[in-house]
Amino acid sequence: MAKPIRTVKTVVTATETPLPGIRLLVLEDEDRWELPPFLPGAHIDLHLGKRLIRTYSLCNAPHENDRYIIAVKHEELGRGGSRHVHEELAPGTTVQVSLPRGGMQIDPTEMNIFIAGGIGITPFVSTIRDMEARGLTNYRLYWSSNGPPSIHAMLGPAIAAGRVEIVDTTREPIPDLKAILASHGDRAKAFCCGPEPMLNAFDRAVEGWHEDRFHVERFTAVQVAVDPDAKPYTLVLAQSGVSREVMPDEKLVDVLIDMEVDIPFSCEGGVCGVCRTRWLEGPPVHNDRVLTSSERESEVIVCVAGCRGARLVLDA
Ligand code: FES
Repeated sequence: MAKPIRTVKTVVTATETPLPGIRLLVLEDEDRWELPPFLPGAHIDLHLGKRLIRTYSLCNAPHENDRYIIAVKHEELGRGGSRHVHEELAPGTTVQVSLPRGGMQIDPTEMNIFIAGGIGITPFVSTIRDMEARGLTNYRLYWSSNGPPSIHAMLGPAIAAGRVEIVDTTREPIPDLKAILASHGDRAKAFCCGPEPMLNAFDRAVEGWHEDRFHVERFTAVQVAVDPDAKPYTLVLAQSGVSREVMPDEKLVDVLIDMEVDIPFSCEGGVCGVCRTRWLEGPPVHNDRVLTSSERESEVIVCVAGCRGARLVLDA
């Protein structure tokens, strides 16, 4: 049987539309108990239906432990998660959510540079609200928005203190990320969350940096291109000894779910990290946005992986 994912039952207690296309939701325990704790900038999975699990960053600060607040943009061309949030979730609706994961590991003594694009602001809202509540001012937020910003009211004190720069890219040029980072010297730590072109620009701007000095938040599922040269391979589950052929047109995640393997799945898009598994023989084709190069030597995000060898042996 597939390993169950631990979830908490919450209820939507309030919704808001700060801008057309953006829906803000407040989730609370049904009986108003405290919710499991989280780090600033952590994210949760919303279980919206069978194989419809989506990851969203928390916008509120960790000390607000009686609620989870998320802000979701309606993605017209998405995979159905944001549409479900916008159309189906209303006050009173119950939603199973995962325990919070991840979070922003800020540098407590150096400058922290937050680069956000559009709704990618959400993990920084949580982080900044937490820093402001603790009297920490060693950060600057650069937020690009394609039109008016969406949930800036949640950043009131930070904006008033001059620690936030908002650029409306419909009226001003797209910020030069390399120049922004350079303006803070070589000891600052940089973070980025936003649309793919911004993340790619950020990747280029931090090229050559030590991996401890920057952090990228990605929530867009990986689109794995079909490899015309892919060959069938044998999938072996080492713990049970079960094996099965995987054809080039099959997705490994579908095969594993079909086999009822003891691996939990969530986003099925290579971004949440829930399905990370040790591999013993391969090599796998890594397509995820989670693992570092050293982690990939022994682990694989199986929901988006393939195999370059004749056998993929998983420690499962
Ligand atoms: S299920 Fe999210 S990374 Fe695999």
